[in-house]
Amino acid sequence: MTRLFVNVDHVATLREARKTLEPDPLKAALLVEKTGVDGITVHLREDRRHIQDEDVRVIHENISTKLNLEMAATEEMVNIALELKPYQVSLVPEKRQEITTEGGLNVSGQISELSGIRDKIKNAGILFSLFVDPDLGQVEASKNVHADSIEINTGHYSELSEPNEIEAELMRIRKAANHASEMGLRVFAGHGLNFDNVAAIAAIPEIEELNIGHFLVAQSVYMGIENAVKKMIRVIRTVQS
Ligand code: PXP
Repeated sequence: MTRLFVNVDHVATLREARKTLEPDPLKAALLVEKTGVDGITVHLREDRRHIQDEDVRVIHENISTKLNLEMAATEEMVNIALELKPYQVSLVPEKRQEITTEGGLNVSGQISELSGIRDKIKNAGILFSLFVDPDLGQVEASKNVHADSIEINTGHYSELSEPNEIEAELMRIRKAANHASEMGLRVFAGHGLNFDNVAAIAAIPEIEELNIGHFLVAQSVYMGIENAVKKMIRVIRTVQS
């Protein structure tokens, strides 16, 4: 089955709204793990608007699955990753003003900078992934950087409502996934996925892993986080042979 990593950032968003102790992203991560997911994802943003350094540390120490650390390509973040040694680092572009990650990395425009970071991350035994739009040029650039994997940005796909536009974007995602896989990159996907739009992405055979956060945390208000994640796993399974 397609692997599922659950992003618990927005548990911390709610806590930070009051600068208090609840809800606790570690407690949420431990509940999520009970559902049988493959890992937990956190995005330590430069402005620390949700997940804090201490959250990343205690989550890493206490979970029994894998930690995927999303972060910007900065020296500060690289140093944190090298000290923490998560299972995987996923580089994402980051702008302070944005509400959430708005697009994929411009890998082709920063091959040498990203290659320098790749050396440090991979030499520490950490898997190195790049979050990119479904663009063949960015996929090829990711291969040139010798990333282990790419995570295809499904954010644009998730915002569309016209069936023909959705199909066109799915085609871009399928082509990018296929091209990446043929070049030897592992392929993941994420951003904006929910119960209604996840199946078409999970049905793409090259896509091995999904990162899903905001929707699951939102659903947990109504049904609890374990039930929300279990339901997502069921929906993903409907398209797996
Ligand atoms: N993948 C990446 C690279 C992200 O930045 C995010 C958002 O933090 C996600 C996946 C998860 O997106 P969402 O919260 O919309 O499910």
